[in-house]
Amino acid sequence: MDKSIRNLFQIRENVHFLNHGSFGACPKKVFQAYQDWQRSLEEQPVAFLGREIGDLLDNVRRRLGAEIGASPDDLVFVPNVTHGVNIVARSLKLGGGDEILITNHEYGACKNTWEFISKKTGALVKEREIMIPIAPTLRQEEIADQFLAGITEKTKLIFISHITSPTALRLPVEIICQKARQLGILTIIDGAHAPGQIPLNIAEISADFYTGNCHKWMMSAKGAGFLYVRPDTQHLIEPLVVSWGYSAPLSHHNKTRLATLLEWTGTFDPAPYLSISAALDFADEYNWDFTRDECENLLQVALDRINEITGIDPIYPNRKGWYRQMGIVELPGDINVQNLKLRLYNDFHVEIPTIEWMNRKFLRISIQGYNSEDDIDALVAGIKCSLE
Ligand SMILES: Cc1ncc(COP(=O)(O)O)c(C=O)c1O
Repeated sequence: MDKSIRNLFQIRENVHFLNHGSFGACPKKVFQAYQDWQRSLEEQPVAFLGREIGDLLDNVRRRLGAEIGASPDDLVFVPNVTHGVNIVARSLKLGGGDEILITNHEYGACKNTWEFISKKTGALVKEREIMIPIAPTLRQEEIADQFLAGITEKTKLIFISHITSPTALRLPVEIICQKARQLGILTIIDGAHAPGQIPLNIAEISADFYTGNCHKWMMSAKGAGFLYVRPDTQHLIEPLVVSWGYSAPLSHHNKTRLATLLEWTGTFDPAPYLSISAALDFADEYNWDFTRDECENLLQVALDRINEITGIDPIYPNRKGWYRQMGIVELPGDINVQNLKLRLYNDFHVEIPTIEWMNRKFLRISIQGYNSEDDIDALVAGIKCSLE
């Protein structure tokens, strides 16, 4: 990959940074735009937050909507996916006997949200297993069928990740949401890793709710997420934080009900949301579609090299479509992953997450434009030494 791209980022020289997936990493230009917004705010806080903010956010919402295939009227900014999931979870009226169907690949903080709702309402969280490795001939439809077989007459809600956190697996959310709709089951998609990593057309997915992060793979400043709500389910949504929007007339600033009710949660820093435009400009300017292809190729090399060292089967044998810039390799079951992580960081300067999931152990490799073969060489050297 083109090493000059690394200079566009702020990542320290002395680290092999293979964990874009956890919190993203913001390019210098985008970070500059973010700080410029913060400066403008402080130069005239009342003009900025009292008068100008509505139009500024509307402009970014339109730009973001065009990028992710959603009408701006169906979008509201939230600080992150955890927040988006909580808005939906606290809004829906679930009760004893209702079932919430999730996969065994969901992100811990969001699982906690559903456990909390379960305790509060008596609804049951049911976890449906999706097996990995993916068989070489397995199709997305079969994964969807495996999951959908967990539906009962009590299922009221489906919660699934578009790209999973522990296993970096792209799930067939389109098929699952369409089927759920036919059955009258609500769907909420956790899109933490999708925006900026894979092309999105959210309206076509036909989920009732879709929440995503812009601060991971879209590379905005941190604290920029969105919640999409289908027009016909918007009446179900309540604000997590009740503020001025509760009593504001809907015509106020020409805002939609969603934006009026949810976007102003009290004084806040809107600069992360406003930085989304700079992040999209950055991706256009540096032809990020090409970079994503390069990242996928480098990731394939990394996965192959490590699978060869461990002798363990690849998780996604037929490659295409199951992952893009983030993937996992399985590690031997007897390895101490905490020690491995420390050793990789302290001795090889490799920042990478180790994962324990379903009594198995994995490394999750994220590749972004700033990575190069050198990072993979360092990782491979570290793994070889640690497995000796
Ligand atoms: C699948 C998934 N969902 C949700 C989140 C939470 O994102 P945030 O901390 O920005 O709310 C993450 C974070 O890594 C994630 O991987």
